Amino acid sequence: MNLVILTGAGISAESGLATFRDLGGIWAQVRLEDVATPEAFAADPARVQGFYDARRAQLRRVAPNPAHHALAQLEREWTRGDVLLVTQNVDDLHERAGSRRLLHMHGELKRARCLSCGADSRWEDDIRPADACPACGAAGRLRPHVVWFGEMPLHMAEIEAALAACDVFVSIGTSGQVWPAAGFVRTIPPAARSIEVNPMTTEVSPAFREHRRGPASLEVPRLVAELLA
Ligand code: APR
Repeated sequence: MNLVILTGAGISAESGLATFRDLGGIWAQVRLEDVATPEAFAADPARVQGFYDARRAQLRRVAPNPAHHALAQLEREWTRGDVLLVTQNVDDLHERAGSRRLLHMHGELKRARCLSCGADSRWEDDIRPADACPACGAAGRLRPHVVWFGEMPLHMAEIEAALAACDVFVSIGTSGQVWPAAGFVRTIPPAARSIEVNPMTTEVSPAFREHRRGPASLEVPRLVAELLA
């Protein structure tokens, strides 16, 4: 029995990281057109770097919550098939909770990508204009390794293959407003279980067979305990 778990910003909300579209969310503070597109980066790289530098620095002040830990436990203890965790989040809370079978389809705050050689490298601090690529040495050519609007998400072939072979698809803490993740539930086998974990109903709620209407920190440990029973 193969599991695919999709997470969004809502799983990190109780760790203290703002979501994007809830009241007071990130896109209520700053326009995504100004900080999360290739055009924005070309127009004002310092502003875009500053936006991601601040979010990267914030990771030092937050910790995984029970939902992140429950998913890591599920990966460790599931013996009845594959478990793949696909996250839209660019934070490192899943890794810090111990998840390993993890794909960041929108990239990661803690990696920098070189515009010269294309390599992405672990990066903990601000990306400064003169910083050099750890792989090729080119200076001043680093951008956040985050997928911007208008760019292709990462690992899609692996994700699509896992969805086509899954028996249980769980979506946690995502508003279902951004594609292709919003469409994942429509690509799973007809006989598969589909479970949406979210305190609110979303645009894609009707496509799910089951709903757990509560916060991730309560609902995910509960769901994991059921699956492992
Ligand atoms: N537990 C579970 N879900 C929660 C919680 C919580 N404690 N708090 C909020 N949520 C839900 C909200 O109800 C909402 O449906 O999390 C969802 C957050 O939605 P968004 O802010 O739209 O975040 P997300 O769906 O991850 O956005 C997708 O959009 O801006 C881009 O690249 C960015 O990866 C992001 C993508």
